[in-house]
Amino acid sequence: MIQTESPLRNRPEMHPAMRPAGNNIITIASGKGGVGKTVLAVSLTQALANAGKKVLLFDGDVGLANVDIQLGLMPELDLATVISGEMSLHDVIFRCDAGGFDLIAGRSGSGSLGSLGVTQLREIRQDLALLGAEYDYIILDLGAGIDDAVKTLSSGLGPKLVITTGDPTSLTDAYAYIKVTTQTAPEADLRILINMAKSEAEGLKIYDKLLSACRNFLQIEPPLAGIIEQDEKVSNAIRAQMGLMTRFPTSRAAGAVEDLARYIIRGTA
Ligand SMILES: Nc1ncnc2c1ncn2[C@@H]1O[C@H](COP(=O)(O)OP(=O)(O)OP(=O)(O)O)[C@@H](O)[C@H]1O
Ligand SMILES: [Mg+2]
Repeated sequence: MIQTESPLRNRPEMHPAMRPAGNNIITIASGKGGVGKTVLAVSLTQALANAGKKVLLFDGDVGLANVDIQLGLMPELDLATVISGEMSLHDVIFRCDAGGFDLIAGRSGSGSLGSLGVTQLREIRQDLALLGAEYDYIILDLGAGIDDAVKTLSSGLGPKLVITTGDPTSLTDAYAYIKVTTQTAPEADLRILINMAKSEAEGLKIYDKLLSACRNFLQIEPPLAGIIEQDEKVSNAIRAQMGLMTRFPTSRAAGAVEDLARYIIRGTA
């Protein structure tokens, strides 16, 4: 069997000076819905916590907040009380003892981030950046689309992991997110994460397609951060309402997330 070198071997390192001032917020975005943002946000948080890092997971999905559901948690407080002005972000932090990390849970429907204007969203983003001083990393799970809420919440200097699958609509939407983000912030630190690939080789091909579009039309080359293969353990963990890293720590998908966590820690230590 011919051994090919892993495409992940030569990834450029993450920016070494992420802290402080909100630069340690790692945004998970995609453009298209249902490509695995929340799964990744939850498992990456868990992997970083397992590596001894202090991590806060923020459910920034404007439409359908569901980090707590994927984890089978029932936090008493969520963003709704922050949005109504009763409490600060700090007050609604929920300690997830089993996972070893903190969570700010979102709210779907009324009382959700979707009910906020851009000014209020900016305030949330600023408060989140301030919270960053208390953590090694904040993982920000965003909703699908590239509306004002996604744009406002993902503004700032930390790395943005853009998730796509090989599905052409997912690639188009990932490209659209990258285009809009670079138009407003040309210096944005964008990284690509391929999810649900059939193999690492297929993942690399998908990345190359997106890279060509970015090179040709935007004159940028966002690096590859990781490839997560299609793995039925991912959906099994969600059905069990348990984090992938807890339910199936030795699965291929969990291994890929651990690799991503190591990659992030290496570049930001
Ligand atoms: N690597 C994978 N292998 C198999 N299934 C996966 C993988 N990643 C995600 N999935 C499946 O994709 C579905 C959607 O995942 P998830 O909810 O994380 O997507 P999302 O991008 O957060 O969606 P939304 O845009 O609605 O917030 C899940 O039900 C999960 O089972
Ligand atoms: Mg989601």
